[in-house]
Amino acid sequence: MSSAKSGFSNHQQEFKGGDFINQEYQVIREIGDGAYGKAYLVYHDKTKKWFALKVEKKAEDAQLQHQMNVIAQNEIDFLGGIQHDHIISYKGSFPLSKDQRNRKCLLIEYADKNDLHTRLEEQIAAQRAFTEEECLTWFTQACMGLKAVHSAHKIHRDIKLSNILIMSQNFLNSDTKNEELIRRGGLIYKHGIAKLSDFGTVTVNNAQEKTMEVGTMLYWAPERYSANYDKSSDIWSMGVALYLLLSNNRPPFMIKYFKQGLLMKAPLLPINREVGMAISSDCWNLIKMMLQKDPSKRPTIRKVLKTPIIKRIVDNVQATK
Ligand SMILES: Nc1ncnc2c1ncn2[C@@H]1O[C@H](COP(=O)(O)OP(=O)(O)O)[C@@H](O)[C@H]1O
Ligand SMILES: [Mg+2]
Repeated sequence: MSSAKSGFSNHQQEFKGGDFINQEYQVIREIGDGAYGKAYLVYHDKTKKWFALKVEKKAEDAQLQHQMNVIAQNEIDFLGGIQHDHIISYKGSFPLSKDQRNRKCLLIEYADKNDLHTRLEEQIAAQRAFTEEECLTWFTQACMGLKAVHSAHKIHRDIKLSNILIMSQNFLNSDTKNEELIRRGGLIYKHGIAKLSDFGTVTVNNAQEKTMEVGTMLYWAPERYSANYDKSSDIWSMGVALYLLLSNNRPPFMIKYFKQGLLMKAPLLPINREVGMAISSDCWNLIKMMLQKDPSKRPTIRKVLKTPIIKRIVDNVQATK
């Protein structure tokens, strides 16, 4: 867990099932407790729809609350300005009513099939593993979302399995545009639609200085230990995510601990292929390309999408358009 997550009260039970947020959104249950916000499944009687509602977390002091506020607003600004099939869709934002701290709420579409980290944990508990085909269809869709982020000259900075959400094909509350997507994509979506989410830490690609301490260290590219990194660090994280999916959550590298003010860990290269990991050599080659120490050698997101094993998935969506 990154140090950015410390200092915030973690066990708040602010809203429970049956409560109303802003008198309008009935809480069904809490669905996520992240670093910067809590996510709830809510029902909106006026529109008869379910949504996910992210409420900015309550921090322990005003300075930390300000930081949270910036992150929440950052996510609202980003999601409010983008529309993409593989980015969680924005439904609105508003201040939390009667809140002395002026916290913000973000309304987004609800992903009924959970995030990929939770899904993977469930598989492991059931002593099953995802097939390469399942992993690659989700990965490809997340990459399509990431391409839109990079095309907007932004870096996500927190690419990880828990930030890739899955929606089922037959979710009744689905947006009509998801139905359209499924019609176009056919079999590609048989394991669900994957969407990139959690944009609180998104930043401009060409910023001079970037904060180190955002995101999750397991997914940090080696250059993330300095303030000098760019969108190729998202490619590394995406490579780690794909590896974890295929290896049942075993990291692709040994992790070395060292101290530099904080306790930190850095990936020890080269990466190793988990013994007995049944993946195709094409898939393994893609992972190795993405997990190259030198960021300039990593493929761009466009290039990842043009890799033959990925391109055939992308083409399938486009061919049925
Ligand atoms: N739209 C959504 N649909 C379903 N679950 C969600 C949704 N948004 C968030 N969650 C759940 O809540 C968790 C935390 O939300 P996230 O947006 O990642 O916030 P944080 O910035 O706090 O990590 C996610 O990992 C996921 O499990
Ligand atoms: Mg998250």
